[in-house]
Amino acid sequence: MAEDTELKFTQSDFRRVRDMLYQRVGISLNESKTHMAYARLAKRVRSRGLRSFTEYLDLLQDSQEADEWQGFINALTTNLTSFFRESHHFDMLREHARQHRRAGETFRVWSSASSTGEEPYSIAITMLELWDGAGGGFELLASDIDTNVLQQAALGVYGRERTEKVSPQLLKKYFDKGVGANEGKVRLKQKARDALSFFQFNLVEPRWPDIGRFDVIFCRNVLIYFDKPTQAEILSKMESCLKPDGLLLLGHSENIVHLTDAFVGCGRTAYRLAHPERGG
Ligand SMILES: C[S@@+](CC[C@H](N)C(=O)[O-])C[C@H]1O[C@@H](n2cnc3c(N)ncnc32)[C@H](O)[C@@H]1O
Repeated sequence: MAEDTELKFTQSDFRRVRDMLYQRVGISLNESKTHMAYARLAKRVRSRGLRSFTEYLDLLQDSQEADEWQGFINALTTNLTSFFRESHHFDMLREHARQHRRAGETFRVWSSASSTGEEPYSIAITMLELWDGAGGGFELLASDIDTNVLQQAALGVYGRERTEKVSPQLLKKYFDKGVGANEGKVRLKQKARDALSFFQFNLVEPRWPDIGRFDVIFCRNVLIYFDKPTQAEILSKMESCLKPDGLLLLGHSENIVHLTDAFVGCGRTAYRLAHPERGG
């Protein structure tokens, strides 16, 4: 524990934080994250009027307080994201939709760790561009475990600097500029917000609800937080959520070839089903 910290945070407290987080959301924190855990949770400990992490963790462990558990989880997730991050995936999405959209069938995309919304709005803009600005032919779902980021995402408000990677043409077409108190901010236009449905979803849930099959699943920069057995478990569920010719898109440092035989690579951090005939 750093000497300048005000609250008592022992190695055993850190191990409890790590175990509790792992059990609920599958995130594996290693010892190098001790200071991060302290920094992110100290506010919650203080707001409960407690003087040590041990007291806070006792309270959390013994209680069924869903709000405190959610606050604990929200504090420890890492939500880094940006519009059109790893932009090659949006080119692939557009191409896949061009080739695979079928008359009378809804083209479905799921952003499965959507964070503050930049990823799913980039998907929505890509789809709206392809469909000539009209919804209807596609369905876009976006989920995350963290309720704070889901709220921010649904609002669709961002600092202007967050939209650096959005072209001026798309910025004009899909964002409204804030005025007065909202100077320096932008908000996604209604048609982009209407194109998305946000919901809370825990990828390490033992039984996934039936959310149907998708043409494209974005599961980017989230598997890295899980250990290998958890990653393999999620991938096996993802297999049943893809249409036979569907596309699974992962983050730049996520390599799954040694984890599962369910997928084969088909482009830069892009995968398709190895056994489409298995049909989930
Ligand atoms: C680094 S962000 C990635 C955001 C976006 N996919 C991207 O690549 O820009 C990771 C997100 O995964 C979410 N997450 C962590 N554990 C999760 C879980 N068990 N189920 C669902 N989402 C989770 C976090 O809340 C966070 O918003």
